[in-house]
Amino acid sequence: MNKKSISSFSLLLPLTILFFTIHPHHTIAIQSTSTDLIAKVCMHSAHKDICIASLESEPASQKADLHGLALIALRLATSNATDTSTYIIQSLKNATIDPVIEQCLSDCSEHYLGATEQLDDSLAALTARGYGDVNTWVKAAIADAQACEDGFKEQGVNSSVLSHRNNMFKQLCNNALAAIHLLAQG
Ligand SMILES: *[C@@H]1O[C@H](CO)[C@@H](O)[C@H](O)[C@H]1NC(C)=O
Ligand SMILES: *[C@@H]1O[C@H](CO)[C@@H](O)[C@H](O)[C@H]1NC(C)=O
Ligand SMILES: *[C@@H]1O[C@H](CO)[C@@H](O)[C@H](O)[C@H]1NC(C)=O
Repeated sequence: MNKKSISSFSLLLPLTILFFTIHPHHTIAIQSTSTDLIAKVCMHSAHKDICIASLESEPASQKADLHGLALIALRLATSNATDTSTYIIQSLKNATIDPVIEQCLSDCSEHYLGATEQLDDSLAALTARGYGDVNTWVKAAIADAQACEDGFKEQGVNSSVLSHRNNMFKQLCNNALAAIHLLAQG
Protein backbone atom coordinates (compact mmCIF):
# COMPACT_ATOMS: atom_id res chain seq x y z
CA MET A 1 0.00 0.00 0.00
CA ASN A 2 1.44 3.37 -0.91
CA LYS A 3 1.06 6.43 1.23
CA LYS A 4 -1.85 7.84 -0.83
CA SER A 5 -4.06 4.76 -0.61
CA ILE A 6 -3.41 4.46 3.12
CA SER A 7 -4.54 8.00 3.69
CA SER A 8 -7.65 7.63 1.52
CA PHE A 9 -8.47 4.35 3.26
CA SER A 10 -8.09 5.91 6.66
CA LEU A 11 -10.42 8.67 5.53
CA LEU A 12 -12.95 6.28 4.01
CA LEU A 13 -13.34 4.09 7.09
CA PRO A 14 -14.55 6.78 9.49
CA LEU A 15 -16.83 8.13 6.75
CA THR A 16 -18.32 4.69 6.27
CA ILE A 17 -18.90 4.34 10.00
CA LEU A 18 -20.42 7.81 10.07
CA PHE A 19 -22.76 6.91 7.19
CA PHE A 20 -24.12 3.85 8.96
CA THR A 21 -24.42 5.78 12.20
CA ILE A 22 -26.59 8.51 10.73
CA HIS A 23 -28.56 6.11 8.48
CA PRO A 24 -29.49 3.25 10.80
CA HIS A 25 -32.27 2.14 8.37
CA HIS A 26 -35.00 2.38 10.95
CA THR A 27 -37.88 1.95 8.51
CA ILE A 28 -36.28 -1.05 6.83
CA ALA A 29 -35.58 -2.66 10.20
CA ILE A 30 -39.22 -2.35 11.34
CA GLN A 31 -40.58 -3.57 8.03
CA SER A 32 -38.36 -6.64 7.90
CA THR A 33 -39.22 -7.51 11.51
CA SER A 34 -42.96 -7.56 10.79
CA THR A 35 -42.39 -9.37 7.48
CA ASP A 36 -40.44 -12.01 9.39
CA LEU A 37 -43.20 -12.25 11.99
CA ILE A 38 -45.89 -12.65 9.31
CA ALA A 39 -43.79 -15.33 7.60
CA LYS A 40 -43.40 -17.09 10.95
CA VAL A 41 -47.16 -17.00 11.59
CA CYS A 42 -47.94 -18.23 8.06
CA MET A 43 -45.19 -20.88 8.02
CA HIS A 44 -47.49 -23.83 8.66
CA SER A 45 -50.49 -22.41 6.87
CA ALA A 46 -52.12 -24.61 4.23
CA HIS A 47 -52.17 -21.57 1.93
CA LYS A 48 -49.09 -19.64 2.93
CA ASP A 49 -49.44 -17.09 0.12
CA ILE A 50 -53.04 -16.20 1.05
CA CYS A 51 -52.04 -16.00 4.70
CA ILE A 52 -49.18 -13.59 3.99
CA ALA A 53 -51.19 -11.50 1.52
CA SER A 54 -54.15 -11.11 3.87
CA LEU A 55 -52.04 -10.09 6.87
CA GLU A 56 -49.93 -7.72 4.78
CA SER A 57 -53.09 -6.13 3.36
CA GLU A 58 -53.60 -4.43 6.71
CA PRO A 59 -51.36 -1.38 7.18
CA ALA A 60 -51.41 -1.93 10.95
CA SER A 61 -49.53 -5.22 10.44
CA GLN A 62 -46.44 -3.21 9.62
CA LYS A 63 -45.77 -2.32 13.25
CA ALA A 64 -47.66 -5.15 14.93
CA ASP A 65 -46.18 -7.60 17.39
CA LEU A 66 -47.50 -11.16 17.60
CA HIS A 67 -50.48 -10.18 19.76
CA GLY A 68 -51.29 -7.39 17.31
CA LEU A 69 -51.10 -9.76 14.35
CA ALA A 70 -53.44 -12.21 16.10
CA LEU A 71 -55.89 -9.35 16.63
CA ILE A 72 -55.64 -8.30 12.98
CA ALA A 73 -56.13 -11.89 11.79
CA LEU A 74 -59.23 -12.26 13.98
CA ARG A 75 -60.67 -8.99 12.72
CA LEU A 76 -60.09 -10.02 9.10
CA ALA A 77 -61.94 -13.29 9.73
CA THR A 78 -64.76 -11.46 11.50
CA SER A 79 -65.26 -8.94 8.73
CA ASN A 80 -65.23 -11.73 6.15
CA ALA A 81 -67.92 -13.61 8.10
CA THR A 82 -70.04 -10.46 8.29
CA ASP A 83 -69.57 -9.92 4.56
CA THR A 84 -70.65 -13.49 3.80
CA SER A 85 -73.67 -13.15 6.09
CA THR A 86 -74.73 -10.09 4.09
CA TYR A 87 -74.10 -11.94 0.83
CA ILE A 88 -76.29 -14.86 1.97
CA ILE A 89 -79.13 -12.55 3.03
CA GLN A 90 -78.95 -10.84 -0.38
CA SER A 91 -78.97 -14.21 -2.16
CA LEU A 92 -82.05 -15.29 -0.21
CA LYS A 93 -83.92 -12.29 -1.62
CA ASN A 94 -83.62 -13.83 -5.10
CA ALA A 95 -87.19 -14.83 -6.05
CA THR A 96 -86.08 -17.39 -8.64
CA ILE A 97 -83.84 -19.31 -6.26
CA ASP A 98 -84.09 -23.11 -6.18
CA PRO A 99 -85.94 -24.18 -2.98
CA VAL A 100 -83.22 -26.70 -2.06
CA ILE A 101 -80.51 -24.05 -2.40
CA GLU A 102 -82.72 -21.65 -0.50
CA GLN A 103 -82.89 -24.08 2.42
CA CYS A 104 -79.10 -24.54 2.34
CA LEU A 105 -78.52 -20.80 2.26
CA SER A 106 -80.94 -20.30 5.11
CA ASP A 107 -79.03 -22.86 7.21
CA CYS A 108 -75.75 -21.20 6.24
CA SER A 109 -77.12 -17.88 7.39
CA GLU A 110 -77.60 -19.39 10.86
CA HIS A 111 -74.14 -20.95 10.79
CA TYR A 112 -72.48 -17.67 9.87
CA LEU A 113 -74.39 -15.89 12.59
CA GLY A 114 -72.96 -18.46 15.01
CA ALA A 115 -69.47 -18.04 13.55
CA THR A 116 -69.64 -14.28 14.00
CA GLU A 117 -70.63 -14.72 17.64
CA GLN A 118 -67.75 -17.17 18.20
CA LEU A 119 -65.34 -14.65 16.72
CA ASP A 120 -66.72 -11.79 18.82
CA ASP A 121 -66.12 -13.93 21.91
CA SER A 122 -62.65 -14.80 20.60
CA LEU A 123 -61.75 -11.13 20.26
CA ALA A 124 -62.75 -10.53 23.87
CA ALA A 125 -60.79 -13.61 25.01
CA LEU A 126 -57.71 -12.50 23.08
CA THR A 127 -57.78 -9.13 24.82
CA ALA A 128 -57.89 -11.02 28.14
CA ARG A 129 -55.09 -13.29 26.84
CA GLY A 130 -57.25 -16.38 27.22
CA TYR A 131 -55.56 -18.19 24.36
CA GLY A 132 -57.20 -21.54 25.12
CA ASP A 133 -60.65 -19.98 24.77
CA VAL A 134 -59.67 -18.20 21.56
CA ASN A 135 -58.44 -21.49 20.14
CA THR A 136 -61.69 -23.30 21.06
CA TRP A 137 -63.99 -20.60 19.73
CA VAL A 138 -62.13 -19.97 16.47
CA LYS A 139 -62.28 -23.72 15.83
CA ALA A 140 -66.03 -23.59 16.50
CA ALA A 141 -66.30 -20.81 13.90
CA ILE A 142 -64.48 -23.02 11.39
CA ALA A 143 -66.90 -25.85 12.21
CA ASP A 144 -69.80 -23.47 11.48
CA ALA A 145 -68.44 -22.74 7.99
CA GLN A 146 -67.85 -26.47 7.45
CA ALA A 147 -71.45 -27.20 8.51
CA CYS A 148 -72.60 -24.68 5.91
CA GLU A 149 -70.53 -26.42 3.26
CA ASP A 150 -71.70 -29.91 4.31
CA GLY A 151 -75.33 -28.80 4.19
CA PHE A 152 -75.16 -28.56 0.40
CA LYS A 153 -73.69 -32.04 0.06
CA GLU A 154 -76.37 -33.47 2.36
CA GLN A 155 -78.98 -32.03 0.01
CA GLY A 156 -77.26 -33.65 -2.97
CA VAL A 157 -76.01 -30.34 -4.30
CA ASN A 158 -72.60 -31.09 -5.70
CA SER A 159 -70.96 -27.76 -5.36
CA SER A 160 -72.01 -25.20 -2.83
CA VAL A 161 -72.48 -21.68 -4.16
CA LEU A 162 -70.63 -20.66 -1.01
CA SER A 163 -67.63 -23.02 -1.38
CA HIS A 164 -65.22 -20.27 -2.26
CA ARG A 165 -66.40 -18.09 0.61
CA ASN A 166 -66.41 -20.99 3.09
CA ASN A 167 -62.85 -21.89 2.11
CA MET A 168 -61.61 -18.34 2.38
CA PHE A 169 -63.27 -17.88 5.76
CA LYS A 170 -61.72 -21.11 7.09
CA GLN A 171 -58.33 -19.95 5.83
CA LEU A 172 -58.70 -16.59 7.59
CA CYS A 173 -59.62 -18.41 10.82
CA ASN A 174 -56.62 -20.69 10.42
CA ASN A 175 -54.35 -17.66 10.09
CA ALA A 176 -55.67 -16.44 13.44
CA LEU A 177 -55.14 -19.89 14.98
CA ALA A 178 -51.54 -19.92 13.76
CA ALA A 179 -50.85 -16.60 15.49
CA ILE A 180 -52.60 -17.82 18.66
CA HIS A 181 -50.55 -21.00 18.58
CA LEU A 182 -47.31 -18.99 18.61
CA LEU A 183 -48.65 -16.63 21.30
CA ALA A 184 -49.60 -19.54 23.55
CA GLN A 185 -46.06 -20.90 23.25
CA GLY A 186 -44.94 -17.63 24.80
C1 LIG B 1 -64.48 -12.64 2.15
O1 LIG B 1 -63.98 -13.67 1.31
C2 LIG B 1 -64.67 -13.79 0.07
C3 LIG B 1 -64.07 -14.97 -0.66
O2 LIG B 1 -62.75 -14.78 -0.97
C4 LIG B 1 -64.52 -12.50 -0.70
O3 LIG B 1 -65.27 -12.60 -1.90
C5 LIG B 1 -65.04 -11.33 0.12
O4 LIG B 1 -64.80 -10.12 -0.57
C6 LIG B 1 -64.33 -11.31 1.46
N1 LIG B 1 -64.89 -10.21 2.25
C7 LIG B 1 -64.18 -9.54 3.17
C8 LIG B 1 -64.83 -8.37 3.80
O5 LIG B 1 -63.06 -9.89 3.51
C1 LIG C 1 -81.20 -15.59 -8.94
O1 LIG C 1 -81.04 -17.01 -9.02
C2 LIG C 1 -80.96 -17.50 -10.34
C3 LIG C 1 -80.98 -19.03 -10.27
O2 LIG C 1 -80.03 -19.52 -9.34
C4 LIG C 1 -79.73 -16.94 -11.00
O3 LIG C 1 -79.60 -17.40 -12.33
C5 LIG C 1 -79.79 -15.41 -10.98
O4 LIG C 1 -78.58 -14.87 -11.48
C6 LIG C 1 -80.01 -14.89 -9.57
N1 LIG C 1 -80.24 -13.45 -9.57
C7 LIG C 1 -79.57 -12.61 -8.79
C8 LIG C 1 -79.94 -11.18 -8.87
O5 LIG C 1 -78.69 -12.98 -8.04
C1 LIG D 1 -73.12 -34.69 -8.81
O1 LIG D 1 -72.00 -35.06 -9.62
C2 LIG D 1 -72.09 -36.35 -10.14
C3 LIG D 1 -70.79 -36.67 -10.85
O2 LIG D 1 -70.19 -35.52 -11.34
C4 LIG D 1 -73.30 -36.46 -11.07
O3 LIG D 1 -73.42 -37.74 -11.59
C5 LIG D 1 -74.57 -36.10 -10.27
O4 LIG D 1 -75.68 -36.08 -11.13
C6 LIG D 1 -74.42 -34.74 -9.61
N1 LIG D 1 -75.56 -34.50 -8.71
C7 LIG D 1 -76.20 -33.34 -8.68
C8 LIG D 1 -77.32 -33.26 -7.69
O5 LIG D 1 -75.91 -32.38 -9.37
